[in-house]
Amino acid sequence: MELNTSWLGLDLKNPIVPSASPLSRSLDSARQLEDAGAAAIIMYSLFEEAVRAEEEGMVRFLHHQDHGHAEADDFLPDFQDFSGELDRYLEQVADLKAALGIPVIASLNGVSASGWLEHAKEVREAGADALELNTYYVAGDIWEEGSLVEKRYVSVLKALQNQIDIPINMKLSPWFSSVGHVVKTLEKTGTAGVSLFNRFYQPDINVEQLRLQHTLHPSRSSDSLLAMHWTALLHGRVECSLGATGGIHSAEDVLKLLLAGTDVIHLCTALLQRGAGLITQILDDIAAWMEEHGFETIDDFRGRLSQINVQDPSEFERLNYIRVLDTYSFKPGVWV
Ligand SMILES: Cc1cc2nc3c(=O)[nH]c(=O)nc-3n(C[C@H](O)[C@H](O)[C@H](O)COP(=O)(O)O)c2cc1C
Repeated sequence: MELNTSWLGLDLKNPIVPSASPLSRSLDSARQLEDAGAAAIIMYSLFEEAVRAEEEGMVRFLHHQDHGHAEADDFLPDFQDFSGELDRYLEQVADLKAALGIPVIASLNGVSASGWLEHAKEVREAGADALELNTYYVAGDIWEEGSLVEKRYVSVLKALQNQIDIPINMKLSPWFSSVGHVVKTLEKTGTAGVSLFNRFYQPDINVEQLRLQHTLHPSRSSDSLLAMHWTALLHGRVECSLGATGGIHSAEDVLKLLLAGTDVIHLCTALLQRGAGLITQILDDIAAWMEEHGFETIDDFRGRLSQINVQDPSEFERLNYIRVLDTYSFKPGVWV
């Protein structure tokens, strides 16, 4: 079976690409992912807040030195020894590149098209094959128009493009009034691909202690239907690469996404919960399924159940809603 695929202009041996997670913080776990069959790896994110905090700290430190506190200076670290989040990130890009044979995609996470993006150049120089931009933006200002939220994505992409010449992948929110139009706009601006979708975490409330709490609820397979739906709507209508993230836990989930038309599948929670061996198992299961259904390559079936290829395209729109509601039956013993 030929499982190879193309994504962001990169030729990959298969469509399984672990998404940004703590697994790329250690060379050992990254090697395990590669050995299990991962075709590329997306690194954990470098956050805008971390870069800014570091720059502000550096400015204060240099200012302090300029004003000559001779005795105190003896106790301060030498400027060259200052190794913050950015330096650690750049080192990790270089170390992963040296340790792995698969493409390494760096990840930047931020919302403003400002100075912090200049560091993308250093990420590229450290060896990243491509860069993912996670614009995790919560549009909490009720006076900010939707079009301005969309423009934010475009301007961050443009600012990044001014810095680097490697492919850029935009990890998107599902909360746009027209997801397809946003993807088309980003494609025109020059994104090489989009990832559908960033998982937004809602703050929780602790009713006993009357305070907010921050809980990481793991994703489930049914969550992947969101990416599946939008992949199916976009397949064949956009030129840029499509990646799916969120709730993909099994070979069946992966196959659904491929049938909907994605180019790559990103796993995160499933790998954190079950280990790297899951990739090998999923690849084996996909190959077995392909053999059973008479497919030799991924392209033989990719997008076969996308909206442009199904008999009744309205099944991806209101008709699905109506049919789903029709399937409901009352629970025996509760209402009847
Ligand atoms: C512990 C943890 C850390 C994550 N770190 C990042 C990150 O640094 N950058 C990012 O873009 N996404 C990050 N994500 C999001 C994942 O890459 C992924 O898009 C999301 O969890 C949905 O996929 P899943 O259902 O397979 O977990 C993280 C997720 C988890 C659970």
